[in-house]
Amino acid sequence: MQERTEVAIVGAGPAGLLLGALLHKAGIDAVIVEQRSAAYVMGRIRAGVLEQTTVELLEHAGVAERLHREGLPHNSIELAFDGQLHRINFQALTGKHVTVYGQTEVTHDLMDARAAAGLTTVYEAENVSVHGFDSDAPSVRWRSGGAEHELRCDFIAGCDGYHGVCRASVPDGAIRTYEKVYPFGWLGVLAEVPPVGDELVYANHERGFALCSQRSRTRSRYYVQCGLDEKVENWSDVAFWDELRSRLPDEVTLRVTTGPSIEKSIAPLHSFVAEPLRFGRLFLAGDAAHIVPPTGAKGLNLAASDVGYLARGFAEFYRDKSAAGIGAYSDRCLRRIWKAERFSWWLTSLMHKFPETGDFGQRMQHAELEYLVGSAAASTALAENYVGLPLEH
Ligand code: FAD
Ligand code: DHB
Repeated sequence: MQERTEVAIVGAGPAGLLLGALLHKAGIDAVIVEQRSAAYVMGRIRAGVLEQTTVELLEHAGVAERLHREGLPHNSIELAFDGQLHRINFQALTGKHVTVYGQTEVTHDLMDARAAAGLTTVYEAENVSVHGFDSDAPSVRWRSGGAEHELRCDFIAGCDGYHGVCRASVPDGAIRTYEKVYPFGWLGVLAEVPPVGDELVYANHERGFALCSQRSRTRSRYYVQCGLDEKVENWSDVAFWDELRSRLPDEVTLRVTTGPSIEKSIAPLHSFVAEPLRFGRLFLAGDAAHIVPPTGAKGLNLAASDVGYLARGFAEFYRDKSAAGIGAYSDRCLRRIWKAERFSWWLTSLMHKFPETGDFGQRMQHAELEYLVGSAAASTALAENYVGLPLEH
């Protein structure tokens, strides 16, 4: 096992894997240390919508071939309320589109490319810990195969998700966190059935939010808002399909094809930001630094833009002997993160049932939805945020 590298990456989720691919492209040596098995990482069903910026980063990393073949370009979404559908056409409003391609597939492509290039990923690393990032000699330690390992490095990239060890290793006084917990979650189902149509449908309904998404022309992903105390094992497939259909306009309900679920899970909704993202030679990226509620489809895209900036910063450091990029990393990311946090919080507030706000809150949501679909300026603002921004220079 290699004992030294330039960048030690903790976590092999999309942030860690994409950073590894971008660094390889830039000729920078990196090792990824992941606590789970490759199969476990691959099995997690999560995001599905990629912004153009994310697609461009995957192209730059040389891992977009299958994405271009199998990804579905989406020019619009449908908002559903009061039994009606309202199309928000991004292409017409912003000239941009998004691509529907599952996080599982992105992970798959990145893992394959990493293996083909012979790059090192340590899976099933136990007791991972990070050391010396406030000095010139950082290192990552872990246990595997009954032995202790140490990887010395120039920098550590903390891509280890919300529950990871990197953010937790920063002294309390050096980090500030901002957090909001929503009083509900999403119950998600993946099923091998054709989707309701070409567009994603985001539905505001008095029974709660519902989302019709998809992974391909034959595979659908659906979500319904649920209580935080609900248990996934208490939701039969039949109960899920009934609840979903009850929340959609009739014309969409008629197009729902039901079938056995392949996966069913509940995710709580949460907004979280840690500031700053850099602590000496440790850099946080992706869910390790921030969480958005999934409504705006921003989680994976923010992870990608973080590592886009980080890879650029490391390239400048090694190639141009300039620390400007890594110096600007935290502020650059945080500007983008707070925009995505605002959008995700706003769309969550607009589309979900909040029992505590009562009838007035519900009528306000309707008034705002009417305004949104009736105003070119408001529709354009939604479209611009949904398709995402280019990276800053
Ligand atoms: P992660 O994907 O969490 O990857 C972190 C990796 O680090 C994991 O592989 C983990 O095993 C590893 N790790 C953790 N601790 C350690 C350690 N101590 N040592 C070594 N490795 C470690 N976003 C959307 O846009 N739409 C969605 O529908 C959506 N659904 C989601 C559903 C769930 C249940 C969750 C949790 C997230 C969802 N997201 C969604 C968010 C999106 O999936 C994440 O933003 C994205 O996965 C972030 O990637 P990441 O690489 O930063 O973190
Ligand atoms: C999906 C998830 C989202 O959060 C979203 O806004 C759109 C699509 C999905 O899993 O397909």
